[in-house]
Amino acid sequence: MLSGYQGKAVIVTGGLGFIGSNLAIQLVEAGADVTVIDSMVSGCGANWCNLAQVRNDVRVIVSDIGSTDQFARVLKGVDVVFNLAGEISHSRSMEDPERDLALNTLSQLRFLLACREHCPGTRVVYAGTRQVYGQQESLPVDERHPIRPLDFNGVHKHAAAQYHQLLTRRGDLDCIILRLSNVYGPRMAIHLAHQGFLGVYFRMALEGKPILVYGEGEQLRDPVHVEDVLDAFLRCGTAREPRHRIFNIGGSQALSLKEIARTIASSSRGSQALHVPFPEELRSIDIGSYYSDTLRAQRELGWMPGVLFEDGVRDALAYFSEHSKHYLEPATHLSVPEMETLRHVKTLRASSVS
Ligand SMILES: NC(=O)c1ccc[n+]([C@@H]2O[C@H](COP(=O)([O-])OP(=O)(O)OC[C@H]3O[C@@H](n4cnc5c(N)ncnc54)[C@H](O)[C@@H]3O)[C@@H](O)[C@H]2O)c1
Repeated sequence: MLSGYQGKAVIVTGGLGFIGSNLAIQLVEAGADVTVIDSMVSGCGANWCNLAQVRNDVRVIVSDIGSTDQFARVLKGVDVVFNLAGEISHSRSMEDPERDLALNTLSQLRFLLACREHCPGTRVVYAGTRQVYGQQESLPVDERHPIRPLDFNGVHKHAAAQYHQLLTRRGDLDCIILRLSNVYGPRMAIHLAHQGFLGVYFRMALEGKPILVYGEGEQLRDPVHVEDVLDAFLRCGTAREPRHRIFNIGGSQALSLKEIARTIASSSRGSQALHVPFPEELRSIDIGSYYSDTLRAQRELGWMPGVLFEDGVRDALAYFSEHSKHYLEPATHLSVPEMETLRHVKTLRASSVS
């Protein structure tokens, strides 16, 4: 669904990361004028190669979204903001809560206040998370489920979502929040072990190593392919006066971790699922089973997840196999000419807005 973006000025925060870069590419293809703001946080999924195919068509500003004086001019006249900047690691938020607070909450607050000042009333689509629900009371989980996060990441992401809601209630901005389930697909930061089990499973499969499933692996998840997630973001960017402002976005299949591991392993060469004891340090932040009730998004946005897990896995593995040097060890495997080209784009684009 790409209509409605031709000639539109859009900002994608976190646009060097996994979901943000896929979104930036689709927006370029839809004819939008795309500015990415991303601070390339160490330990997050920023990767210059993610934007390689549109490198001449996006403006990249390397800045924390809270450092608003770096990009205030770009906010003026923007049509839609896709706000995806954030740290996604639950385990890391428990090791260093203040880092997570700074990235996911304080920076978001500063960014939104700058949006209110420079582009009042603008549509902002925020990448929230299903992690805010914590352990589910019943399945599937809909948007009215109590908010009881089990980790600091969930608390901070919820606070940021609340800032979006508050500014919308006050009439300052026009925000929509997507509560994303486990997203997978091309450009995932599969080298980062703390970003979640799906990336780790893909990496193990690519390396032909066993995929370790903690415990019995009976917990359910609804992995959603990034193409489906982009569709939801793009619909929200242009949705007119939606009745609700919060939408669950998850995949169409509820699969156990064991099934997910087996599907990924069987789509690769030489990998297999292997059960190991559940690590004690992860037990307290394990949400148990989860899958989304996405009826609200279906009814109000006309959105439906369309990619079957088996197909999505094949697509992701094909991408990572072709570009493995940029994803297995991304920081160290860029060739010198690639580094030069990308650095040039960064300088050029950043200087054109300062
Ligand atoms: N991937 C998932 O399964 C998932 C699930 C639920 C929610 N989300 C949300 O979606 C968004 C994107 O996730 P992703 O998987 O693409 O992660 P990612 O780590 O690949 O990308 C996040 C990007 O945000 C940038 N960033 C982080 N904090 C920033 C800040 N304060 N200022 C500027 N840039 C900053 C990072 O450098 C990185 O490039 C995040 O907000 C995340 O919480 C993702």
